[in-house]
Amino acid sequence: MGINILATGAYVPDQKLTNDDFKRFVDTNDEWIRTRTGITERRMAGWEPNWYMGAQAAKQAIERAGISPEDIGMIITATATSDFHTPSLASVIQRETGAVNAAAFDMNAACSGFVYALDTARRFLQTDRDMKYILVVASEALSRFVDFEDRGSCILFGDGAAAAVIEYSDKLYSAALGSDGTGAHFLCARSLQIAPEIKQETGFDDGFTDKPLHKLYQDGKAVYKFAVKALPAAFELAAGKIGATAEDIDWFIPHQANVRIIETAAKHLGVPMEKFIITLDHYGNTSSASIPLALNEAVGKGVIKRGQRIAMIGFGAGLTYGGAIIEY
Ligand code: UT7
Repeated sequence: MGINILATGAYVPDQKLTNDDFKRFVDTNDEWIRTRTGITERRMAGWEPNWYMGAQAAKQAIERAGISPEDIGMIITATATSDFHTPSLASVIQRETGAVNAAAFDMNAACSGFVYALDTARRFLQTDRDMKYILVVASEALSRFVDFEDRGSCILFGDGAAAAVIEYSDKLYSAALGSDGTGAHFLCARSLQIAPEIKQETGFDDGFTDKPLHKLYQDGKAVYKFAVKALPAAFELAAGKIGATAEDIDWFIPHQANVRIIETAAKHLGVPMEKFIITLDHYGNTSSASIPLALNEAVGKGVIKRGQRIAMIGFGAGLTYGGAIIEY
């Protein structure tokens, strides 16, 4: 059993940050950023809270789906950059959308978040057949956590949100989720500071003690190594469950972290780059929002059509990974 994506929606802030804009903060240049990452510009939230971006994307998806918000049984929001410890972004999105009959919660699987949320939604739809629709939202305000003094990471990230209204269907579906917690400290934004004297006295070191507080830290090389393996592996795990191969897929939508990671994965899978949807050039890495933003854009441009098979593949902090194959 699978899902039907009735409609998608998106919101990105108006404010653009070009590669040259980063010269104001760090020693960098457009050529390095473009050739090492494929990114040209990204969006940056100004006044908009994260919940606002998510709610705008959600409202667009609901309107396009042509459903009543009251028929939404659940809102799942994927985010790693919430405005709040509590409440969940999903609860605020519920307030904004009028989805009064929905359960609401957030989940954090970082850049794999949309794939995790989609598969979670699919399982609820399968086991509760009274639930008509689930609203899956991925919304990220990474610019509020980025360390604008770290040239290796600040140039990568952007802000934005996307949403999908889904329902139960018997369309083709497969998903595989996974995580390797031994790499948890390679990509993190810590919210708890262990006092230095505790580390001295006890020798306690969880791998995070030297990482900056409330700022995004990334060991780029370690994550890169993980990503080039995780991307094809997550697809193969999901495809293996239904006996599919890369040739059965019309479109690949990978997490938009670095075009070099996608090129390496494409080679590994023997798939031409033309089959990969790329939006990182203009949105950068928007974590969990990157896959649904790309889906929304490709559908909007008429690139992805009904009946086509899509493989969505996420990887990121955790270190998490997940692949989902759906029929659009
Ligand atoms: O969404 C979660 C998943 N995240 C990812 O998948 C990210 C994975 N990692 C990457 O995409 C890449 O590792 C980066 C884009 C972060 C870095 O690319 P790299 O090719 O691994 O570069 P590097 O870190 O090895 O740095 C090479 C050189 C260094 O200079 P030296 O030591 O060779 O003199 C860096 O200091 O490039 C320098 N550098 C920069 N130079 C200009 C690093 N950042 C910049 C910069 N501008 N922004």
